[in-house]
This record gives sequence, C-alpha cells and structure tokens, in this order.
Amino acid sequence: MPATVIVGLQWGDEGKGKTTDFLAEQVDCVVRYQGGDNAGHTVVLGDEVFKLHLVPSGILYPHIVPVIANGVVVNPATLLRELDGLAERGIDVSRLRVSRNAHVILPYHIALDSAMEARLASAAVGTTHRGIGPAYADRAWRTGIRMEDLLDTNVLRAKLQRVLPDRNVILSAAYGAETFELEALVELGAGWGDRLRERIVDTTDLVQQALARGDSLLFEGAQGTLLDLDHGSYPYVTSSNPIAGGACTGGGIGPLQVDEVIGVAKAYATRVGAGPFPTELEDAIGEGIATRGREVGTTTGRPRRVGWFDALPTRFAVEINSASSIMLNKLDILSGLDEVRVCVGYDIDGERVERWPASADALARAIPVYETHPGWRESVHDARSLGDLPEEARRYVTRLEELLGVPIHLVSVGPERSQTIVRSVRPYPAARHRR
Ligand code: GDP
Ligand code: IMO
Ligand code: MG
Repeated sequence: MPATVIVGLQWGDEGKGKTTDFLAEQVDCVVRYQGGDNAGHTVVLGDEVFKLHLVPSGILYPHIVPVIANGVVVNPATLLRELDGLAERGIDVSRLRVSRNAHVILPYHIALDSAMEARLASAAVGTTHRGIGPAYADRAWRTGIRMEDLLDTNVLRAKLQRVLPDRNVILSAAYGAETFELEALVELGAGWGDRLRERIVDTTDLVQQALARGDSLLFEGAQGTLLDLDHGSYPYVTSSNPIAGGACTGGGIGPLQVDEVIGVAKAYATRVGAGPFPTELEDAIGEGIATRGREVGTTTGRPRRVGWFDALPTRFAVEINSASSIMLNKLDILSGLDEVRVCVGYDIDGERVERWPASADALARAIPVYETHPGWRESVHDARSLGDLPEEARRYVTRLEELLGVPIHLVSVGPERSQTIVRSVRPYPAARHRR
C-alpha cells in the first residue's frame, strides 16, 4: 500500500511542485493535505510553465486523480480560476475532487488577514493576505463554513447568519474595515457550490478505498516544516501543519499507512515573509543566487530572502518528518560561485549550539558557524548522474547527505522533469493505468 508523503524541509518553495510532478508519473493519485492558495507550486513542461496554488501537482498527467483533502482551506474563486486556466491550456481537469470537509475561505477571512497584518505593522508576519490564518481560526472556533455547506443554500445561510455579524463587528469596530452583506455571500457561496457540486466528495473514503485497492498515492505538502504552526518559528509561521504528520490529519490516512516520506530541500535556503533566518545573505552573493534562482514568490511576487544552506533546521526537519530520503533541488543555481558555505552550528550568546533552537527569540541572536567548500564554475544542467557533476558539486551533495543523516536519492539540476539525477528510486507497483 504505497503512500508517500512529499514535504518541504525548509521555509517553503523548495521545489515541491517539481518533485511531485517528477514522481507522479508512477502513482494513481496525488492528494494535497493542508494550506490553501498561499502555496505556489511550479511545474515546467517544455516551454510551458504551470503555477499551481490549490490544484495538486499531479494534474498534468491524464491518469492521475488529483484530490484536495480535508486539511486544505479552499478559496473556491481561486480554485475555479485555476481549473478554468488549466482547461484553456488543454489540461483535462475533470478528475479533480475536493473534500466535503475542507473549510472555505470567504471574503471576510481575506479582509481580516489584511486588517490584522496592517495593525501589527512592523511586527507583521508577512502573510500572503489570502485569508489563511482567519479561515483556520474559524475552523478551530467551530464557526467555519465547509465545502459541503456550499451545496445547500439554506444550510449556508443559517451558518453564515451565525458567524457573519461577529466578523462584521470585528472588521468595522476593531479595524475600521468594510463589512460584508449576508445575502451577497450566500449568493457567492451557492454559485461556487453549483459549479463545484460534482467534485465535492468524501475524500477520506476515496483515499482509503484507493489504498485498499493497492493504488499508489502521493501526499503533496504545501509550505515547509519551518513554517509549521507547531514546529516552526512561531509566530512567523503559517496556520497549518505542513509536516508529514499533517498528511494524516489533513489527508485521511493513518500513520502506519504512510510508508515513505520524501523531504524536499533546496541546495541553499530561501524565506518569504518575516521571521528569523540566521544564514540570510544580504550581499552581492545573495543577490546573485536570487537572480539566477529567480527567487520571486509564486503567489505574491515578493522577492524571496536568500541564504546559505543551514544544516540545523534541515536536520530538525528530517527528524520531525521522519524523512526516509531527500530530493535536493536547484543545485544548478550554485554554479559559478568561488566557494559555497553550509551552516553547521550557531553561536548564541557565546555558546556553541548544534541543534535547532525552538525559540524564535534565541534564533534572532544566532550567529551562524560555517563550513566553507570550494565552488564550481561549470553548468550542471546536463548532469544525469552524480558522476557527471564536477568533483566540488559532488562533494557538496555528499557532505549535505552526511550532515542530514539520510540519503539524497534525487538531485535536481534544472526546472524541467528531465533535469533530474536519479540515484535511487524505490520501486512502486505499476500504477493502475499501466497494469
Ligand atoms: P514549491 O512551492 O516548493 O513547489 O516551489 P516553487 O515552485 O514556489 O519554487 C521553486 C522554483 O524553482 C520554481 O520556479 C521551479 O520551476 C524552480 N525549480 C525547481 N527545481 C529546480 C532546479 O533544480 N533548478 C532550477 N533552476 N529551478 C528549479
Ligand atoms: P509553497 O507551498 C513560502 C509564508 C508567508 C508568511 C507565512 C504566513 O509555495 O512552498 P500565510 O499566508 O500562510 O498566513 O503566511 O508563511 N508562506 C509561504 N512561504 N512558500 C509558501 O508556499 C508559503 N505559504 C505561506 O510568506 O511568511
Ligand atoms: Mg512555492
């Protein structure tokens, strides 16, 4: 019963889209288990670039059932726009299914996200302003609207009637922001329900039946371990659990049904939004990496902060996710540097620290301790085995592997599917379409 979780080991944008697309060929089903349209997953197919926010990255294969599971917060407007855009480009989107239990992001969540961020001013989290935090808060408050509620206008109206007056009071009295009208929201939600009706199903049952049949499934995480609500540097985190455990609560599988966890890391580090980032480079080297790596947010267009690879949080991420192997992306972006650095410890208040400190406070004072490795000049875009890499690049990969303690099975040397070094792939039973 192969169920593989794909999880970001850093602060998001590690290349989960490329990794999922690369592995999806072999499976039957790709399940998104948390986050919302704050995510931006890029898949490159020849000249075509697909930027996916809610639709699982397996959509480009005609044999795959893409599933948006219960742990995702869905903005139906984004979902419909994304489906229409893909259909216009000739992609068959008919198989996509959405959980009845997934929570809906409504316009008042987006308004609250923006109002709260503005109020925080210099202490702002730097959210994507997609309403993610307020939608998850409503879920926890048990005042959320779920996808199934969109299917019955009377239910939708009754639930909105209970929550909307409170949200409007907060918006107007606390923030002086615009308020929302009940009937307009009912009409909007019912319209979404009409268009998505056929796709709204019990995805936990769908997942369990697929596992029982012996299908292979990929669970695609959004964001990354260091943005995890519980395990990231709170409060500079997102409002869900991107870690592999989130695939169980958000995807509808039990812990013992997961038999592989592939951690996705970049050969350097990036972060969008505020929060501690000890290895951040605010110099010409950082600018060079950002330019070559096109490190601009897929969802918001914000420039991503760039830094050296940091072994401490990434090793922590390997542990907390029980990652069995790693896909290391964007190795090609480091070509052309005289030297490359890897952070192997911190100096915090004069003390040497070798494990990731949980406290954002301690992290803000962490001074990185680096190992310096010789760089390489050559392009590595055409490498298809570790032996094709310049000696220095090969050493860099094997050193990261040593520091992280799990094998790096896949190395990506360009955005395309084919630009991948496969050192070892676990054999999957043939996907249903090939049986
Ligand atoms: P995700 O959110 O984890 O899916 O990552 P994003 O799609 O937001 O950002 C990763 C970016 O790097 C995308 O533009 C990818 O096309 C690109 N990318 C992925 N792997 C590689 C690689 O090995 N080399 C290069 N040059 N680009 C890559
Ligand atoms: P993918 O899936 C990188 C960051 C935001 C902000 C924090 C909270 O493409 O890797 P939120 O809108 O979620 O409340 O913002 O999380 N963030 C991401 N950073 N990649 C992402 O997704 C992100 N999704 C959210 O920048 O710092
Ligand atoms: Mg992204």
